[in-house]
Amino acid sequence: MTEHLELTVNGRAESLDVDPGETLLEVLRERLSLYGARESCAQGVCGTCTVLEDGRSTASCVRLAVLVDGGSIETVEGLDAGGVRHALQDAFITRFAFQCGFCTPGMLMAAKELLTENPQPTRTEIREHLAGNICRCGAYPELVDAVEAAAELLASQGDAS
Ligand code: FES
Ligand code: FES
Repeated sequence: MTEHLELTVNGRAESLDVDPGETLLEVLRERLSLYGARESCAQGVCGTCTVLEDGRSTASCVRLAVLVDGGSIETVEGLDAGGVRHALQDAFITRFAFQCGFCTPGMLMAAKELLTENPQPTRTEIREHLAGNICRCGAYPELVDAVEAAAELLASQGDAS
């Protein structure tokens, strides 16, 4: 038995049949070939699979795809739509906010949510917001620097996201 699913992913309408137990992460990676969101813990605690669902970060590894019907999903692949890197991507590069990069897509999406909600976060607010995203390489100081730098850049451009 399958369920029909209609959703928007990075601005593009998708229509597909999924198994009731299929997760959003499986749909993104295995059906839509979007490999940015990654599976690590598969239990909703590490943040590597973070995507935005209607603007809010969600652990796609524990989110059933059928529950996202009609929703709008943003993945890291959508950040540089049009070939222009998002300020967060630039800041992650210039501030060396990653080492192996495994956590980076999830970090970027969680950071995007933060800057949309709170365009000028304090360093404490950045740390608190990213607390659900684990970086095994321990690049936390650089991550906070990068989000702070992206916020400054977006503010100078008059853009909150
Ligand atoms: S893989 Fe989804 S939260 Fe860890
Ligand atoms: S950069 Fe390696 S896990 Fe974060």
